[in-house]
Amino acid sequence: MCGIVAYVGNRRAFPILIKGLQRLEYRGYDSAGVGLIAQDHNKITVYKQSGKVSDLLDYIGEKDTNGSIGIGHTRWATHGAPNQQNSHPHDSSDNSFSLIHNGIIENYASLKSMLEQKGYIFKSDTDSEVLMYLIEDVYNNDSEVNDLYKSIRVALNEVVGAYAIVVIDKNNSNEFYAARKGSPLVIGIGNSEYFVASDASPIIEYTDKVIYLKDGEVAKLNKNEKVVIKTIQNESKTPYVENLEQSLESIEKGGYDHFMLKEIYEQPKSIVDTLRGRIDPKTNDIKLGGIKYHESTIIKADRIIIIACGTSWHAGLIGEYLIEKLARINVEVEYASEFRYRNPIITKKDVVIAISQSGETADTLAALEIAKEHGALTLGICNVVGSSIPRATDGGTYTHAGPEIGVASTKAFTTQITVLMLFALRFSQLKKTVERENYDLLISQLTTAPENIKTLLKQNDIIEKIARKFKDVSNFLYLGRGLNFPVALEGALKLKEISYIHAEGYPAAEMKHGPIALIDEEMPIVVIATRKDNYEKVVSNIHEVKARGGRLIAIVTEGDAEVKSIADYCIEIPKCFREISPLFSIIPLQLLSYHIALLRGCNVDQPRNLAKSVTVE
Ligand code: AGP
Repeated sequence: MCGIVAYVGNRRAFPILIKGLQRLEYRGYDSAGVGLIAQDHNKITVYKQSGKVSDLLDYIGEKDTNGSIGIGHTRWATHGAPNQQNSHPHDSSDNSFSLIHNGIIENYASLKSMLEQKGYIFKSDTDSEVLMYLIEDVYNNDSEVNDLYKSIRVALNEVVGAYAIVVIDKNNSNEFYAARKGSPLVIGIGNSEYFVASDASPIIEYTDKVIYLKDGEVAKLNKNEKVVIKTIQNESKTPYVENLEQSLESIEKGGYDHFMLKEIYEQPKSIVDTLRGRIDPKTNDIKLGGIKYHESTIIKADRIIIIACGTSWHAGLIGEYLIEKLARINVEVEYASEFRYRNPIITKKDVVIAISQSGETADTLAALEIAKEHGALTLGICNVVGSSIPRATDGGTYTHAGPEIGVASTKAFTTQITVLMLFALRFSQLKKTVERENYDLLISQLTTAPENIKTLLKQNDIIEKIARKFKDVSNFLYLGRGLNFPVALEGALKLKEISYIHAEGYPAAEMKHGPIALIDEEMPIVVIATRKDNYEKVVSNIHEVKARGGRLIAIVTEGDAEVKSIADYCIEIPKCFREISPLFSIIPLQLLSYHIALLRGCNVDQPRNLAKSVTVE
């Protein structure tokens, strides 16, 4: 979703802003803009354009981009079309101030009509311009205020919704102001300079000292002074400076054509990193530091509720299977967006686990707040260290997948499954629900999974050839049973989000209850038919598909002969326990989607309309 970058210091701001916006491109956006104040010009120069950052650069051309203070923004449209007027920055009506905003001002309509009655004329359809004018109105009309830092705090008290904002003042080229509630914002501290961004990627090449603003905090960042932080209620806060543990290489493509492909190939390493230090090599005992102090509560819990969205929700479904099967704890998996609005029954004996790659998904965060209000223990399984969900939960476990830049989640999914597997196995031992011998075998297969994935990735060329056969179809059906059902859902999601081919995931047995009507010679069907997961029943489903002329791609276990004799194309995964198999069966489906999307000429890393981190409802 929207990306924010801001700089104040002694360097030229423009290249820093542009590079920062390019690093934030992965978040998804449809227009971009920058605002700059040249030294002693007492004027904010704003350039904005619909389309990509490259379109903005074409538009700016040789125009003046001087100045050592500036703000930059990539906009993912919510209120109003993705055109130039609606792009950020938004100036105050007298052009004294300019603002960039990520989030949604929910009460923008009433604020707008109040401001219109006062004579303000809006140039855009955005809620963000309403916020800019509200700040301006407080600044101009409250005789006790008349300083911008204070006006921002006062104005934000009137706002319902989510925001991360930066505001600049044409008469002050030394400082700007940043505030957040619900939307992510990081401050980078350099030498007589400050950076602000939606995440650390625009900042890491300049500094590793950062401050994560908390909800309701507003920072004054003057290049000649220390950071000042106050809450919107005017309470002073001591800034908490943290060290950023991220490398520049981790956010670059490293020789791959696309981030998605790089991230697919990084999965063996990401799983190793996720397992590191968590399994005792001598005893096979699992240690999960972030939940250590909550184990007795989890053992006694009535149930675990997993809340998540998209791919993370699919991982949650796999978690449900693993935790119920291995640890015998009752699990429910909920879409966070549904959970938050249906007045759910939650008690103090529930444990709520939020799964989120970004740790910033608005629906998941809001669902978590509801769980907290009801007194449930809350845990997070997140990838981005220091993001909002890990900070809002009582405990949790990081996935350590490294930065995931491709909008289509790949390594986040397999590392989420890895953490859920560790969790299920840990409680299987505490509750004595799995015999030690089986436990040791599962641990052994989990720790060798990265090597097996490396072998599996060698089938890339075969998968690319299969992709060529199917690149022009309009629909795909994905089928699986048991643990393979969420894998089918995830395979279908991968294909639709990056190739724009309509794809459905279904439990294989449900096919007879409707989707079978879709099957004809045109319809490709992907069946995950690995050994042990109701294999014979899935084979029957495969016969039903073939009898109706469907074209079949099957994911099978190494050495399979039966499905191979019926399917049009087969991709083998290593022999393993069914609990381990999702770590393997998803890999060919990720590659299939990648190649089909590429062959169709789609933007694999930044698919249309999608945002990497969905920070608004
Ligand atoms: C996955 O490929 C998607 N881009 C999307 O479904 C994603 O998983 C979802 O938005 C949840 O994001 P989160 O894991 O960061 O919370």
